[in-house]
Amino acid sequence: MITLRNLTLRRSAKVLLDNVSVTLNPGEKVGLVGRNGAGKSTLFGLINGSLHEDSGDFSMPSQWRLSQVAQDMPDTDEPATDFVLGGDTRLMDLRAALTRAEERHDHDLDSADIGMQIAHLHSDLADAGEHDAMPRAQSLILGLGFKTAELGQPVNSFSGGWRMRLQLARALMSPSDLLLLDEPTNHLDLDALVWLEAWLKRYDGTLIVISHDREFLDAVTDVTLHIERQQLTRYGGNYSAFETLRAQQLELQQSAFSKQKERIAHLQKFIDRFKAKASKAKQAQSRVKALERMEKIAPVLADADFTFEFKEPANLPNPMLSIRDGQFGYVVDGQPKLIVGGVNRSVMAGQRIGILGANGQGKSTLVKTIAREIPALGGTITEGKGLNIGYFAQQELDVLRPQDTPLEHMTRLARELGPNSGESGREQDLRNFLGTFNFTGDMVKQTVGTMSGGEKARLVLAMMVWQRPNLLLLDEPTNHLDLATREALSMALNEFEGTVMLVSHDRALLRAVCDEFWLVGRGQIAPFDGDLDDYQRYLLDEAKRLRELARLDADAGAPAPAKPQAAAARAAAAEGRSPLTPQEQRKQDAQQRQQLSARTRPLKRELEQAERKMAELQAEKSALEARLASAAPPAELAELGRRLKAAGDQIAQLEERWLALSSDVEAIETARQPS
Ligand SMILES: Nc1ncnc2c1ncn2[C@@H]1O[C@H](COP(=O)(O)OP(=O)(O)OP(=O)(O)O)[C@@H](O)[C@H]1O
Ligand SMILES: [Mg+2]
Repeated sequence: MITLRNLTLRRSAKVLLDNVSVTLNPGEKVGLVGRNGAGKSTLFGLINGSLHEDSGDFSMPSQWRLSQVAQDMPDTDEPATDFVLGGDTRLMDLRAALTRAEERHDHDLDSADIGMQIAHLHSDLADAGEHDAMPRAQSLILGLGFKTAELGQPVNSFSGGWRMRLQLARALMSPSDLLLLDEPTNHLDLDALVWLEAWLKRYDGTLIVISHDREFLDAVTDVTLHIERQQLTRYGGNYSAFETLRAQQLELQQSAFSKQKERIAHLQKFIDRFKAKASKAKQAQSRVKALERMEKIAPVLADADFTFEFKEPANLPNPMLSIRDGQFGYVVDGQPKLIVGGVNRSVMAGQRIGILGANGQGKSTLVKTIAREIPALGGTITEGKGLNIGYFAQQELDVLRPQDTPLEHMTRLARELGPNSGESGREQDLRNFLGTFNFTGDMVKQTVGTMSGGEKARLVLAMMVWQRPNLLLLDEPTNHLDLATREALSMALNEFEGTVMLVSHDRALLRAVCDEFWLVGRGQIAPFDGDLDDYQRYLLDEAKRLRELARLDADAGAPAPAKPQAAAARAAAAEGRSPLTPQEQRKQDAQQRQQLSARTRPLKRELEQAERKMAELQAEKSALEARLASAAPPAELAELGRRLKAAGDQIAQLEERWLALSSDVEAIETARQPS
């Protein structure tokens, strides 16, 4: 049993918990929730003994074994499996003891004592699960999304996100009575997330998990601990149950009511406006549904002390950019490593594109290339005039300087952007601006290194907004953000006039923001015709297809199947597009212009015809309307009505055709624009 009695907890001058009392029972699965900076991670510090209460009592059974995910990035060349096995400290200690005993035994042949000791150690090892430790470690690693071939690879050969997964596996490997997980889903994709949910449900110790992912919390927890205004409150039930209860409580609280009403009205207006705009497309419809959910939890959102908006972009180039024959990837040891190839796509003003694809398929590679963080391996990206990219990536948090304060970060940014940002860089203005992102009072002077994860993410968001971008490239922007800030982000994105390209495993955000999807997979990028539910079905089918493929190969005794992505990449690389000389380039461009006009000519002709016909029909329609309005004889009315409807229908049809034709022409022209 864990008990906090009349406990007060502080971080420098800030009181995080003020005289709280709470009890947690053995075996409970507890979700610890609260706004960014409320003190959740700090509470973990109290439980694991790295911090101490300022007053009151904290107690926990002394014999409880505690397991938690180490926060540092592991940097060792130990093979992945050994690293994870190392998490089972009991097993490791016993193994080491056995080795020592055996060495002594070898030197000291007639010692019966050591013989006994060795026998004991063997039986202890059996108790500790020595016989299946290896497969247990491996199933953890595979469950978290690694491939069989990667089990033996050195830890430091993996990227940051994957190393943190190994760190998580190591914590799960460790036998424990109490497991502390601080936002474990941040580095996971959908598949691994679902696996972790199932694993945690089977875990029989006491679990306390910090998360801002409602679907995850609902699946795993049965008790919710909420930190708010220095109070810690225990609710029986999962996150949704807690949310409903809270919405009811908040509605009862008269004091907050007028402020809330304003916010609810704003939300309502926003949702109505969006609904009116949303087309019949399936994707847009699922967005409407997501917004309707926001309506339901409006009181919780309205209670949030934070909303923000993107500034109106200075200009909107259209297209924002177009990619021609893009080859994206990395250079490893001087060799190009292609991840996605043959990309021919344009990004138009105002599009909301969700970028889907399993881990490692190249979503971030695409985004990084567009953001100019890494060069394309081949092809061209033509940027619209005045393109101003706002790029947000997980690793962006590392870009913050831990020793500096939010104010110093903003001052530097304002200086770098110079006068054309249209903003004053005066300290008071910067403070005001930071205030709109909830950095108030002393917080503008707190060093970034001591801020909570969500506070850092919010600072990065603020810095992005300041840059006044017209194209937002967001790669997992919601990690660390609390629910209310996520909703604030999704509202801000919806009202943003520029273009959004979003990579996220946050299903709620994708639903609320995107009305079209690109699918990155098998070495290519293609539009995905469907909504998120279709995508989850696609994922299942794809997993099945790969399993079958693997089975077929295994049956045939063939070596492990090459990843389809790698195969496609190799194929594209084999085509080997070598760089052209300027003359060749000009010649190619001229040829392309000719091909282009050959392809668009018939379309343009049809466009003109459609325009003429529409004008005729419009004129006819006006005449009919005028006739109807001018007290025509009743006998004529029915006929007039029929003709009016027919004209209207025909116009609608032509408009659709006209739209389709224009976008075809546009697509062909932008895809082929020479750089
Ligand atoms: N060493 C410190 N000095 C000053 N303030 C600190 C220090 N450490 C933490 N804080 C502040 O204490 C508050 C609680 O931080 P904590 O990391 O516990 O929040 P959290 O609830 O885990 O938030 P998040 O959801 O963003 O992870 C934050 O406002 C943070 O800025
Ligand atoms: Mg935290």
